[in-house]
Amino acid sequence: MKIAIGSDHAAFSLKKILKEHIREKGLGEVVDMGTDTDSTPSDYPDIAFRVGEAVAAGTADRGVLLCGTGVGMSIAANKIPGAYAAHCHDVETAKLSRRHNNSNILTMGARIIGAPLAEKILDAWLAASFEGGRHAIRTGKIEACENKICPACRPSKHGRTVIFDHPLVQHKVSIIRDKNTPVKTFRELVQEIAGLMVYESTRNLPLVKVKVETPLTETEAYALEGKKLAIVPVLRAGLGMVDGILQIVPNAKVGHIGLYRDPETLNPVEYYCKLPGDISERDIFILDPMLATGGSASAAISLVKEKGGKKISLVSIIAAPEGVARVHEDHPDVDIFTAALDSHLDKNGYIVPGLGDAGDRLFGTK
Ligand code: RB5
Repeated sequence: MKIAIGSDHAAFSLKKILKEHIREKGLGEVVDMGTDTDSTPSDYPDIAFRVGEAVAAGTADRGVLLCGTGVGMSIAANKIPGAYAAHCHDVETAKLSRRHNNSNILTMGARIIGAPLAEKILDAWLAASFEGGRHAIRTGKIEACENKICPACRPSKHGRTVIFDHPLVQHKVSIIRDKNTPVKTFRELVQEIAGLMVYESTRNLPLVKVKVETPLTETEAYALEGKKLAIVPVLRAGLGMVDGILQIVPNAKVGHIGLYRDPETLNPVEYYCKLPGDISERDIFILDPMLATGGSASAAISLVKEKGGKKISLVSIIAAPEGVARVHEDHPDVDIFTAALDSHLDKNGYIVPGLGDAGDRLFGTK
């Protein structure tokens, strides 16, 4: 395990002790991110951001941040999306911050506790593991909030949940939620929402410089690099999103996946799968308007991976926390884009408040 450690001048000596402790006990590989001295004062945010960014980007597995109280370090580190700093001065809180909150940074105050207790806290924190389950639903909500504030900020070593809070998208979602919205309007709005969502979900597509001759002069511009997009609707409701996306990205290839639920095992079973031959070279967007339990979304992602797909995102319109947690657990590399994160699933697996069955509402089959 790679542990990024940092302190300001006030905790410089504690940092030295803890580094030695980690080495002696073989707890991990230490990367010291400063400060290098206690003879000149340093500003804790500078160190906290360095460690926070390393942990959020995955170049370090965990971070330890020390200052006089530990408070400044925790406030500063928690400004970095993907950094989850727990300020702990007792062993129990440190353990629970791993088990329940999946904290990836520990902050402590050298002017508050002595080195022996700091070592015990560190040992307990490093040894404890995240329990997932209901806790993953809660931490998922924190990640969703980060992505709402700044969808593109978080380095995506592990999958993000990005919620589209654009007013136009939200307005259209409010209309499709309404049970009195007729099929024709519902269908048009699903296409419009899918089209609008493409902007954000394609934000990180790689670009290359190209030379262009304008009527006035030659200039450099940017074009999409290499093979581009594949969109893969999950039958049948995913079909409702295809045309809206193709209006914006007309050259995208379209694959199709059909899954049904085995009545005995309740597991999703493939009945149709046709993907572009060069799927491994494309950025893939799997489309399913409703991310409910996550069972079929997760199976669809597995299927695309089996066929060679590498860069996969899931695009839904309404998601339930249960589905988000399931997909992130099964496929930690996959980003989820959604227009709304709803409250929960009812006993029949419907998203609440949701919009009912998207397939029935799209095709008028109810
Ligand atoms: C430095 O004097 C002190 O303010 C700092 O180490 C830390 O306690 C801030 O939270």
